[in-house]
Amino acid sequence: MSDSPKPTKTGGLAGVNAGETAICTVGKEGYGLSYRGYTIEDLAARAGFEEVAYLLLHGHLPTRSQLTSYRTLLAESRGLPDPLKTALELLPADTHPMDVLRTGCSVLGCLEPERGLTRESAIAAGNRLLAAFPSMLLYWYHFTRDGQRIETQTDDPNIAAHFLHLLLGKPAPESHVRAMDVSLVLYAEHEFNASTFTVRVITSTLADFHSAIVGGIGALRGPLHGGANEAAMDLIDLYRTPDEAEQGLLGKLARKELIMGFGHRVYKKADPRSAIIQEKSRKLAEAAGDQVIYPVSERIDAVMRREKGMFTNLDFYSASAYRFLGIPTPMFTPIFVISRISGWTAHAIEQRERNRLIRPAADYTGPELREFVEIGKRG
Ligand code: ACO
Repeated sequence: MSDSPKPTKTGGLAGVNAGETAICTVGKEGYGLSYRGYTIEDLAARAGFEEVAYLLLHGHLPTRSQLTSYRTLLAESRGLPDPLKTALELLPADTHPMDVLRTGCSVLGCLEPERGLTRESAIAAGNRLLAAFPSMLLYWYHFTRDGQRIETQTDDPNIAAHFLHLLLGKPAPESHVRAMDVSLVLYAEHEFNASTFTVRVITSTLADFHSAIVGGIGALRGPLHGGANEAAMDLIDLYRTPDEAEQGLLGKLARKELIMGFGHRVYKKADPRSAIIQEKSRKLAEAAGDQVIYPVSERIDAVMRREKGMFTNLDFYSASAYRFLGIPTPMFTPIFVISRISGWTAHAIEQRERNRLIRPAADYTGPELREFVEIGKRG
């Protein structure tokens, strides 16, 4: 057992402002969640994901012709080089899809390394990953399941449609594509969260873009961060009725278990993204004639509010929404990557533009200085 001290309430950099950003506000008075000055409510209702990615990368919304060119660029970048396909084929079928993306990113960084560490090189590498992440994931998925080498260079109009088309083997209904697109908008950016901060730390050492993104994917994988959407689905899947969910949840709370998809480091009353994805999930449930997943989710939500005064974060209702879109649970966190690469790229650029090595200090809690004892004389 470790004898290191328990984490304290002052740990985890809670409440520490670790730098400046012009990209996003999270829970800021009068702003709420905003990307580059636009509220998340406006962006989710009125913009598509590519428009939002462009906004994050360039600092302003695209004109119609800029958006058309950007969509074309991304659509033309969906193909995978042969050595990357070979690497993906070598990964076992039971690899976690987050590890597939982490590996795919690293391999692409070897085949198409970033040249120059500039704003332009980061935008080019970020756009390539935006276009190629769905292709990598679904190429690996189909090859390891049934040996099929799928064509990833489709002419789907956007990333949401491309992802669902490659996953399901046929174009998805428009309502599903829009729900997926909104989800990508919601996941695109969130200030100095753990994975973005990781990207900034790695970028601050003047490492290349792919190294920073590989680190970001690693940080996102854990259930306290992005992995919570998968863990929330696993929780919902435990129950067949709302009453069963209520009983099960009360037991978990009595055992002081963490309930995934609830709580947030910054938001104290509500996560503004949650209501938006909940409404999508509710509509998808209705269209699918669901009588289990959504009612169970709502009951878990109600019990957490009643018993703990806690609210759902973005991950909770994203889980049921993705289930209704036909997405396997282990792909939930990879979708977070497919979207968040836009925010990570914006932060890598911002970090480079005013770079200083990120290197905080620590309060020492170890032993006093002591005599070194030769190996033969140690008790
Ligand atoms: N279930 C049950 N209790 C909880 C939960 C939860 N989900 N979240 C916090 N608490 C409790 C803690 O146990 C703690 O109780 P205590 O004071 O009795 O010890 C209290 O609420 C305060 O929580 P902290 O751990 O101090 O909150 P922190 O800011 O460190 O953690 C976090 C935030 C990691 C999001 C936490 O709420 C959590 O673990 N949630 C579940 C994982 C999750 O959903 N992550 C997704 C985050 S959002 C995203 O990535 C899109």
